Amino acid sequence: MKYLTDLEIEQYCKDHSSRENSLLKKIRQDAFRFAPQADMCSDQLSGSFLRNIALLKQPKNILELGMFYGYSTLCMAEGSPNAKITCVEHDGRVINIAKDFFDAHPCNNIINVIHADANTQLDEILSNEKFDFIFIDADKKAYVDYVKKCCNHLDTGGVLIVDNALWRGNILNTENDEKAISVDECNKELLNDERFENSLLPVRDGMHLAIRK
Ligand SMILES: C[S@@+](CC[C@H](N)C(=O)[O-])C[C@H]1O[C@@H](n2cnc3c(N)ncnc32)[C@H](O)[C@@H]1O
Repeated sequence: MKYLTDLEIEQYCKDHSSRENSLLKKIRQDAFRFAPQADMCSDQLSGSFLRNIALLKQPKNILELGMFYGYSTLCMAEGSPNAKITCVEHDGRVINIAKDFFDAHPCNNIINVIHADANTQLDEILSNEKFDFIFIDADKKAYVDYVKKCCNHLDTGGVLIVDNALWRGNILNTENDEKAISVDECNKELLNDERFENSLLPVRDGMHLAIRK
């Protein structure tokens, strides 16, 4: 992971934020072994941010696009253990791994995993449902599409968080980087959507927080 803040500051923030439990630590370590370069799993800092927002909001119906090993899923579940969480993930291998981790967690029964491609099946997944907390962390090239669709399924007070909103800093120079172009468009979409109050925060790889007014 290319950190966007000074490494010592990053470490100081981790040292002064709630610790992850032993299961979350194991998930993060296993995920790192699976894909050390991609570093796809949330970490202690971004995880504690998700947990805190869930704790504050106490959502009843959470949607996560892009679950991977379930680290972020469990952080949101820990913050809001009475919620229902629907996770959309297209990789069957990681779903099996995440399910084993969920089995070892007391919040297991609130998590429902949908094995699907968010890029083609999001309309169907969203149909007739309102969510009060949506975490977007799947295909970066589809971010604008996800955000446009998801924004219509959040009621007043609903929370939207988009991960990797600074895309390793490449949003400053998007040339030849399709993912950076898409993430940048998504950030602008949220800024310009008058239904939302938004804060783009330099937490880990950038977390864009938007609240439906
Ligand atoms: C960055 S990881 C998610 C990390 C997880 N949210 C966390 O914070 O620990 C992105 C995940 O999105 C999944 N993904 C990518 N494109 C997808 C798509 N079109 N539909 C569903 N899942 C997708 C990948 O398989 C991967 O598991």
